[in-house]
Amino acid sequence: MAGLIPQSFINDLIARVDIVDVIGARVQLKKAGSNHKGLCPFHNEKTPSFNVNPDRQFYHCFGCEAHGTAIGFLMEYDGLTFPEAIEALASSVGVTVPREQGREPPRDTSLYEVLESADLEFRRWLRSNEDAAGAVAYLKSRGLTGEIARDFGIGLAPEGWDGIKRALSSFGEQKLIAAGLVVKNEKGRTYDRFRERIIFPIRDTRGRVIGFGGRVYGAGEPKYINSPETDVFRKGRELYGLYEARRAQRRLQSVLVVEGYMDVVALAQHGVVNSVATLGTAIGQAHFETLYRHVDLVVCCFDGDEAGRGAAWKAVDAAFPVLSGTRQLKFVFLPEGEDPDTIIRSRGREHFQELVDQAMPVGEYFVAHLEEGLDLDKADGRALLSELAVPHIGRLPNGALRRVIVDGLAERTGIDAATLDRAAGQSHATDNARSDPTEPFPEVDQPSRRPLKPSGSQILFEIVKDPELIAVLDSETQVALAKDADTSLLADVASYLLEEPEADTGTLLARYVGHEGHDQLAEFAARPLLLPTRAGDFAAKVRRYIVDMDLTASSRAAEQSGWSMDDLRRHAQRRQEML
Ligand code: CTP
Ligand code: MN
Repeated sequence: MAGLIPQSFINDLIARVDIVDVIGARVQLKKAGSNHKGLCPFHNEKTPSFNVNPDRQFYHCFGCEAHGTAIGFLMEYDGLTFPEAIEALASSVGVTVPREQGREPPRDTSLYEVLESADLEFRRWLRSNEDAAGAVAYLKSRGLTGEIARDFGIGLAPEGWDGIKRALSSFGEQKLIAAGLVVKNEKGRTYDRFRERIIFPIRDTRGRVIGFGGRVYGAGEPKYINSPETDVFRKGRELYGLYEARRAQRRLQSVLVVEGYMDVVALAQHGVVNSVATLGTAIGQAHFETLYRHVDLVVCCFDGDEAGRGAAWKAVDAAFPVLSGTRQLKFVFLPEGEDPDTIIRSRGREHFQELVDQAMPVGEYFVAHLEEGLDLDKADGRALLSELAVPHIGRLPNGALRRVIVDGLAERTGIDAATLDRAAGQSHATDNARSDPTEPFPEVDQPSRRPLKPSGSQILFEIVKDPELIAVLDSETQVALAKDADTSLLADVASYLLEEPEADTGTLLARYVGHEGHDQLAEFAARPLLLPTRAGDFAAKVRRYIVDMDLTASSRAAEQSGWSMDDLRRHAQRRQEML
């Protein structure tokens, strides 16, 4: 992010722009005496109570009490941060924003123009290209009407290698590459990135096209491709459908996060107009920052499969640092094999709306997820629960949600709330970090995790439930774990799995029939684990365990004792690729 915007520049800028122009470009205003009046964009009304006062450079709505300056209006109306609003104002009067320090290279904003032209071509092709019939038939088969295709600006990239390249040749090849529209291969040949695909234009909250997603409509692989990151397209921040959702509901109350373009469009087709999707990436903290700038309630509704449930758990971690104040996060868990698109088409809007209305609050989900497979009637089960929860809680800002979660955990674990809070440590994500309005939204520090000792039995439990986890460890960790004093059940299981990488839970149990440890493993296997363990979490936990148990020495010994590091590495690599 660029540096601070000098206050003097902001003052000059405010003096230069007229609030009537800024608001008048977005809301129809009528002169009434010395004021300008219009229908308030922030609440529904039929008679205008929205006033813009040019003398005071201020707006005020007598209906909903919304009020502020031109900058405040842009932040609210366009969903911009303070620096973004300044940028927007500055560009509206043709000046560039100076930065006091840490200047980053200027973004190539001419890409907007290139992308807009591409968008026009794609849409035109869907209406007129000879390939359009197939694409239109496909959209129809997915239950989409022409109206919704128009609302989302859906387009077509026809067959062939150079449709866009030729149509947009006046921009020059370099620009087309920079915009992500044209690809250059090793031989230096250039060709269209999107070919024979239905095109979903991705817009920023101001409606500018910043990239595209493309889906095959005939045969072909992969099913989706997306624009790469460019100067104007940041996948970690942008969300597909947010612009359209805000346009459909000016006063958005909540946003539904789904996995795919098709989900967003299908939901809108059935009247659910407030959904957004990430762009082929997992949802991250910056996405939540974007969303909570517009709404207080975010409901995640991922696919009813393992990946979807894994995504939900990831979302918890991504959202925790920004869940302060009135912000809420909830989760809908769809039946196995369903996604929002299939559900709303088969069961209808009302059913879907019910699912959303009954979504599970994040606090509840958080505890339920961690409790899976734990026996809270036993002391070690309760200890484990607190152990698992504490590092996550450390990422939650102080506030109602943190209190609710800590109190709930205190009740379930018998550990008092103050102790849990202390163990979790001070949260680093604070709202007052945002109090300097000229500072770009702060990156929240990595929280200081105060790791409690991971227990061998928790690691064993996770391995028993998903033996393939062993392969996500790097080979040194694998060896250290497997050679753990040569005696523990965990070490034994680990070394067995390294020899038998294909073993699943059943095979593992079978191996132990009649041997010591079988009952323990069988008990683990029988405990429910509704959600998959995250590979990254697991690896970190095992590494901590190894350090705590001081197994590194045995790892070195192991290395000398004939384990083939190469084999292990190859194996680990193969598994990583499969994950
Ligand atoms: N995605 C992607 N690249 C892929 C597959 C998926 O970027 N190769 C992203 C796209 O953003 C897509 C989303 O992940 O919209 C969901 O993809 P997927 O789960 O494959 O969606 P499906 O429901 O299977 O797809 P569809 O409904 O279009 O058949
Ligand atoms: Mn789908």
